[in-house]
Amino acid sequence: MCKRTYEADNDHDISLSSNIKRFYMASVNRRDFLKNSGLATLPMLVANPVLAAMNTGHQQPAPPATQVIKFMGDGEMFEPTEYLNILQQATIVRDSYGAGGSVEALEKKFAGITGKEKAIYMPSGTMANQLAIAVLSGENSKVFVQETSHVYRDEADAAQAVFQKRLMPLAKDEPFFTAQQLQTAVEALPSEEVFKTGVGAVSIENPVRRSSGRMVPLEELRKISTYCRANNIKLHFDGARIYMAAAWSGVSIKEYASLCDTFYISLYKYFGAAGGAVLCGDKAVIDKMPHLIKVHGGSMYGNWTNAAMVLYRLEGFEDRMKSTVQKANELFDALNKISGITIKALPGGTNTYAFALSPKIEITKLRDALNTNYNIRIGRVNEKNEGFLTVNETLLYQDNNYIINAFKKCIG
Ligand SMILES: Cc1ncc(COP(=O)(O)O)c(C=O)c1O
Repeated sequence: MCKRTYEADNDHDISLSSNIKRFYMASVNRRDFLKNSGLATLPMLVANPVLAAMNTGHQQPAPPATQVIKFMGDGEMFEPTEYLNILQQATIVRDSYGAGGSVEALEKKFAGITGKEKAIYMPSGTMANQLAIAVLSGENSKVFVQETSHVYRDEADAAQAVFQKRLMPLAKDEPFFTAQQLQTAVEALPSEEVFKTGVGAVSIENPVRRSSGRMVPLEELRKISTYCRANNIKLHFDGARIYMAAAWSGVSIKEYASLCDTFYISLYKYFGAAGGAVLCGDKAVIDKMPHLIKVHGGSMYGNWTNAAMVLYRLEGFEDRMKSTVQKANELFDALNKISGITIKALPGGTNTYAFALSPKIEITKLRDALNTNYNIRIGRVNEKNEGFLTVNETLLYQDNNYIINAFKKCIG
């Protein structure tokens, strides 16, 4: 177990809430860290050029990522040194093959958050999706999914290749299918196919990555859930980014989770862990997972780095996201008043906003100036000078006036 506290090193924004400050203050003396943690004595780590440089002081530490405002991604992606600094502030208890310690604490935490009987840590979201769908659908081979979903497009045909499931895509290029579309597709099967292989499960991603984070409306989710329950079809939820949906829709994680049988949440997209996922559901389903994880090669000896990071950063996360939404609304109202900039929320969207610049603004100049002079990162635009701005909790690292001023100055 390792728990330390560090002195505040923050003179940037006294208006930040105490939780935000805790992350802001994450920069600690790296030599103390290495000394205190005993890492400096490990030859393996000293052989690592980055850690070796930190240890001998040859390399100036990069500015903490907590100072960089990133209009891209769903959250912080910490550099290794920052990651280690933050872990120094966390309570860490090691696990053994996912049993005990911080991993067990994380599982209990997410069972509570989702209101499900049990939760299990998994090495990846892909594994969480695939194992959940495989177990829920049992002997039945058909699984209905959004055509735009990660399960359908981005999991290397694992459902077909490894789990002998046939994914049935609905609503091509759309963020979601309706309960009516699902019902129509299920009811059409007997007349469209000779062999009755059975519908095992439905999987729903929300929000939808390939639809720029658009959400499935709560009303539609409720109807789908009701239809599935009435027809004995199991429902899996790919909630990799469910915290984004919750922040922008105001619907609680528990409410979303109450609609489905299994519910997966990513541990790295916005909590800052280096990887991992948590799958929540009924005890009978979750208890099947350790064996399946092992069989598929996903049982890893130590998982505490990810679990401890998430447990630490979870504290106050929903409040920080609420502040982020409010700040984004105010910020984009103000940025829209600058000539040549248009920022619009997407219909049914979450943290990704449409961003357009007038043709006279040179995006490369704007991006470079924002990055170099203000530590603000924005993404690319297309040939029409259109792209996206994605907000995340890094928006809280500076006040809005700083960002507005930066855009004004850089547009010139
Ligand atoms: C919606 C969604 N589901 C699942 C995954 C898979 O997560 P992992 O990278 O942990 O396998 C991702 C990853 O990008 C995702 O965006």
